[in-house]
Amino acid sequence: MDSSEFQFSDDWFSRNIQVWDVLIERGKPLKILEIGSYEGRSACYLINTCTAYGALELVCVDTWRGGVDHDATLMAEVERRFDRNIALAKARAPGKVEVRKIKAASNVALAALIHSDGRETFDLIYIDGSHTAPDVLTDAVLAFELLRVQGLMIFDDYLWSMEPPGQQDPLNMPKPAIDAFVNIFQRKLMIYEGTPNHQLYCEKVSS
Ligand SMILES: C[S@@+](CC[C@H](N)C(=O)[O-])C[C@H]1O[C@@H](n2cnc3c(N)ncnc32)[C@H](O)[C@@H]1O
Repeated sequence: MDSSEFQFSDDWFSRNIQVWDVLIERGKPLKILEIGSYEGRSACYLINTCTAYGALELVCVDTWRGGVDHDATLMAEVERRFDRNIALAKARAPGKVEVRKIKAASNVALAALIHSDGRETFDLIYIDGSHTAPDVLTDAVLAFELLRVQGLMIFDDYLWSMEPPGQQDPLNMPKPAIDAFVNIFQRKLMIYEGTPNHQLYCEKVSS
């Protein structure tokens, strides 16, 4: 993707591209849910990459209010950059794409998607919203309902903590929530081996 006209102030995504390229080539997801979009860096990657396989539907959920790890006063500008970057990515996409922006807390948005008539299911769900343990666990459990069997769920920041090593607050980091989720859902999931451990990749094997 030629990034010259995109406006990004942070890059938490590029380190994932090598692995995502392989997983996306394998799964060719065309119906994707992203929880936590920020300036749209991961969403723009998905638009650019997945439209090569067919018409893409991408749902982006974000409050655009930031999480515990963001400066809330900058978020209006972040949302403006998201809108601009997505418009640019759509214009340059090699194929058709529909992007649905849902500006809401993820628990509210996911509950509404689950409740909607003719409930949608997704091929890929990327969980990169709030990084507190209660929120990540809620996102995981609700997102599982929306993932199709053989679909892929990716958690970002598996090893991230707000506080420095040795002083972590276990409720202020994703790992305890992701571990609880994959332990309790282990008969319905397959965790991918051999992937970088700053993310966790798992496939839904049964509902
Ligand atoms: C790490 S950023 C996402 C980065 C993005 N995926 C990328 O690769 O550039 C996390 C985002 O989650 C959003 N967020 C935090 N808590 C949320 C919640 N409870 N519901 C929805 N979005 C939330 C924040 O506003 C922020 O934009």
